[in-house]
Amino acid sequence: MTAELLDGRATSAKIREEVTAEVEQLKAEHGVVPGLATVLVGEDPASKSYVGMKEKQCRQAGMHAVGVHLPEDIGQADLLAELAKLNANPEIHGILLQLPLPEHLDEDQALSAIALEKDVDGFHPVNIARLTLQGVEPTFVPCMPLGCVELLDRYGVLIKGREAVVLGTSNIVGLPTAMLLLHRGATLTICHPHTEDLGGTSRRADILVAAIDQPRMVKSDWVKPGAAVIDVGWSRVKDETAEGGYRVVGNVDFDEVLDVAGHVTPVPGGTGPMTIAVLLQNTLLSARRSVGAA
Ligand code: GUN
Repeated sequence: MTAELLDGRATSAKIREEVTAEVEQLKAEHGVVPGLATVLVGEDPASKSYVGMKEKQCRQAGMHAVGVHLPEDIGQADLLAELAKLNANPEIHGILLQLPLPEHLDEDQALSAIALEKDVDGFHPVNIARLTLQGVEPTFVPCMPLGCVELLDRYGVLIKGREAVVLGTSNIVGLPTAMLLLHRGATLTICHPHTEDLGGTSRRADILVAAIDQPRMVKSDWVKPGAAVIDVGWSRVKDETAEGGYRVVGNVDFDEVLDVAGHVTPVPGGTGPMTIAVLLQNTLLSARRSVGAA
């Protein structure tokens, strides 16, 4: 069997087209331009690159994007003051605080300071709590997890009643993805560093989400034939045969798993582009709500 690709590049391009058309319509009907503020603290090259991509794609979709770049040694009070300014700015409908923050800053307090109605990343502790509870909706769902589920939906992969295994418990991906799958009716297992039989547990999954930050850890014998495999990993590994001597890989050994899985996300070009597309959707939704059009 050769798995069908869950093509995040093509799917996110389609979503961006949909968002661009809706942004146009919102401008025409309500005179509102959706605005996103990205807040970056420090000089981490990967974070800088993510934030740059988010801003660029916002502008390409006709949105307003503001990049707030703060020094590595900023104090907590000054960071909170910057967030308060963005909360009060009517041109800004979404605020994204790029994580991780430098160690001296209190991440929980900073995320809590973002206005709930502008928390397009869905990481405000109240939104995370709402995501775990039955019967209450967060104002926004985190982008990477929602992007994973959107990919499954757009490829017609059934979630309800199926076994989902999530490898990893991070606040950004593992935990919120697990909660989304649970609320969509999957029977859920979450694996962590104390899980004894990672491979055997993974092999039970109809939907396997790999978010363990270990390059190519998921091998073909971890995958049930026909399963949908979602890879949220991204690492650069040495490879003499690749251009520049490096290759970008995920947490899944893609070449092996392709022969066993029913569906699989490539890396790059899977969950990464979906994350930004969902961020645009969330920012548009926030702008719609601000004029009572959602
Ligand atoms: N760091 C890594 N991924 C993300 C993300 O999706 N949002 C934010 N805010 N920070 C991140």
